[in-house]
Amino acid sequence: MKLIIHGGFFSEADQSNETKIAKQTALKEISLKGFQKLKNGAAAVEVVVFCVELLENDSLFNAGYGSQIQSDGKVRMSASLMDGETEKFSGVINIQDIEHPISIAQVLQKEDDRVLGGEGANLYANEKTDLGKFFDPRTDYRIADYEHKKEDLLAKNHQAGKGTVGCVALDIEGKLAAATSTGGKGFELVGRISDSATVAGNYANEHCAVSCTGVGEDIVSNATAAKIVTRVSDGFSLEKAFEKTFLELKKYDGFAGAIAIDASGNIFHHDSHPTMVWASADEGGISCFN
Ligand code: GLY
Repeated sequence: MKLIIHGGFFSEADQSNETKIAKQTALKEISLKGFQKLKNGAAAVEVVVFCVELLENDSLFNAGYGSQIQSDGKVRMSASLMDGETEKFSGVINIQDIEHPISIAQVLQKEDDRVLGGEGANLYANEKTDLGKFFDPRTDYRIADYEHKKEDLLAKNHQAGKGTVGCVALDIEGKLAAATSTGGKGFELVGRISDSATVAGNYANEHCAVSCTGVGEDIVSNATAAKIVTRVSDGFSLEKAFEKTFLELKKYDGFAGAIAIDASGNIFHHDSHPTMVWASADEGGISCFN
């Protein structure tokens, strides 16, 4: 049993020491809670959703409450879940005004139509679940940040955010799962699609589970999560699979980070640029980014 979670790139928001400590504390607490669930016998596919829901609750991270705001002033969120045992991928793309995008992705596991976008995702949340209640994910911090970006854009100085959250876990039965949730890049064009609800950003099978963060366009071009999982399935170690995949990302200075776990309980994380924030938990204790 093991899990690892990430909270996007440290550079995604306020980079003060206070924020760093707050992120470390939050990630450690969430990884510990998730690991406790694994110890109690919960399935990996339940635990990754549980951890991502907690990350979505925390306004320190760019997912759920505290999501980035798009160029038209609205928040649109994306999330996905992949069960490594069944190899079912489910997700929502650009859903609005709900508290937990990952929970809708979880409900969608039972459907034939498992990835829903925009209006349809909200319609499904409202009509087929009790999770569609209106929730405003904007925080004062994000609203102020959005206003700054509007000014930066006029000065052609706008930087995209690189935050997303995710969790991968191996349960007591040796099953794997991956979950990822994001508020996107911030100030993106309306209709832009994040990597987080694609197999480039979130992928799992019986051999390996991966969740990514970073610039969605780079992650999609590189097919990062699916590539790492495929390489591990074909016999690569996690380390070698990451090495080759991140080398390919270098061709265009791709900006990405990823966390992974394999069926033997090895965990690995890597980022192309400093610094992805993460924490992992197993019987030996908790580890965290510095
Ligand atoms: N990785 C999140 C995004 O680019 O939307």
